[in-house]
Amino acid sequence: MLVEIPEVLTAAQVAEARKVLDAAEWVDGRISAGHQGAHVKDNVQLPPGSPAARQVGEMINNALRAHKVFMSAALPLHVLPPMFNSYEGGQTFGTHIDGAIRILPNGQRIRTDLSCTLFLSAPEDYDGGELTIEDTYGTKTVKLPAGHLILYPSTSLHQVTPVTRGRRVCSFFWLQSMVRDNGHRAMLYDMDVAIQRLGAENPIHPSVISLTGLYHNLLRHWAEL
Ligand code: NI
Repeated sequence: MLVEIPEVLTAAQVAEARKVLDAAEWVDGRISAGHQGAHVKDNVQLPPGSPAARQVGEMINNALRAHKVFMSAALPLHVLPPMFNSYEGGQTFGTHIDGAIRILPNGQRIRTDLSCTLFLSAPEDYDGGELTIEDTYGTKTVKLPAGHLILYPSTSLHQVTPVTRGRRVCSFFWLQSMVRDNGHRAMLYDMDVAIQRLGAENPIHPSVISLTGLYHNLLRHWAEL
């Protein structure tokens, strides 16, 4: 399941983030690629842990924690610090799969259940640079407004097509979800959306209470902490 998370950052926050990122020093993106990825990866990144990455990363983390759609769709347990990449002049990242295990700054290993890309360039500012994801139902092409995020299963093959005009700046990161199974997590998300819709029409309907109870009992059944 691919979920678009709208307006993670406001236009003012995107502008602030870009000011910090554009003044920072970028390095070859192959520093964080695995063996297969290094052959197809051609971009630049901010060094993880650099002051600019930390500053904008904190802004993103705070926004995500307050974002109801993100929390409901991802059910995050551990979120890796946001990283940042940039593509221009034909740069691209060919088809690859993200590594299954990554390490938090405190040394803890986490399983990558979901991959996130947060767009920090307006789509009209560059040509190409589509994120294409091989989903269960075919290949999806994603190019979102600045400040919007796409959440997709880390089990998917994906690529970034060459940026042939302008510059594409994004944040990307991974998370381990409380609910490991993509199908279970998708059902919980669909159920939550339906309950919210019903609750908006009639908050005291007994079915809202029953369905909310069922949601939590399923989450209790499936969550691994
Ligand atoms: Ni990737």
